[in-house]
Amino acid sequence: MANSITLDWSENCSATIHLYGATVTSWINNGKEQLFLSSKSKMDGSKAIRGGIPLVFPNFGPWEHGPQHGFARISWWKIIEQPTKMSNGDVTTVLQLTDDDKTRNMWNHQFLLTYKVTLGENNLTTKLEVTNTGSEQFDFTVLLHTYFRVSDINSCKVSGFLGCNYSDKVEGTDNVSEASKEIVIDRNIDRVYRLAGQPDGHLISTPETKLMLTKINLPDTVLWNPWTEKAAAMSDFDDLGYLNMVCVESGYVSQRKILHAGETLTCSQNITVL
Ligand code: BG6
Repeated sequence: MANSITLDWSENCSATIHLYGATVTSWINNGKEQLFLSSKSKMDGSKAIRGGIPLVFPNFGPWEHGPQHGFARISWWKIIEQPTKMSNGDVTTVLQLTDDDKTRNMWNHQFLLTYKVTLGENNLTTKLEVTNTGSEQFDFTVLLHTYFRVSDINSCKVSGFLGCNYSDKVEGTDNVSEASKEIVIDRNIDRVYRLAGQPDGHLISTPETKLMLTKINLPDTVLWNPWTEKAAAMSDFDDLGYLNMVCVESGYVSQRKILHAGETLTCSQNITVL
């Protein structure tokens, strides 16, 4: 069985989803790749895919019960709906992940993740449903860790953070209020913004491309670029890759979401090429 599936909207618009992590690894819009994928990324299931849209669940960041960013991005997902063209022309597919011995050994809860990827004309929507299928409540954090491809980070600006409070992992500070309308990435940046992009979304712009990221039920946004030294220190990252990417990550991460037995959280992001 192939390890990835492709959504074809037209000859030059497509998206590819790897079953390892349900990671969207490519989104080509009008012949142009919109997502960054490291040329050194492992694609064989031995390590989380470095690029595209890895899915972080049930824990964002270092985790006492298992690997950083949880197990969803390092699990093999099942396709439950093959790519289908809808009447409006959009193409969708649905993947699922459920608990098994391996996940319960780390995190002893029963869950169902249902991930719907929809490719439209000039847009890509990724919608996740997290369902508690067990009989006890659990809590988690979740994040769509999108690596945007940019032609040159020096000419990239990201908006949608003005006035939001953030914690800065590089500076070791918390509750800083963002004073810039547009952020220019010119160093290692690793910040968790609370209530960011609401309701206007984030505009990720370069002289060539403008992408609008909007989110539903994902109140936080992580902004990350490893810059020179951290890029070089990662075995699966191109040394100069940081010049062509910025991660703008839609998440529910600054607080843990509680789901009672039988409850579902539905959250999504949409990226539109303007
Ligand atoms: C970001 C985190 O979301 O992911 C960073 O804020 C982290 O702290 C980055 O370095 C990459 O994580 P990983 O596990 O894929 O190397």
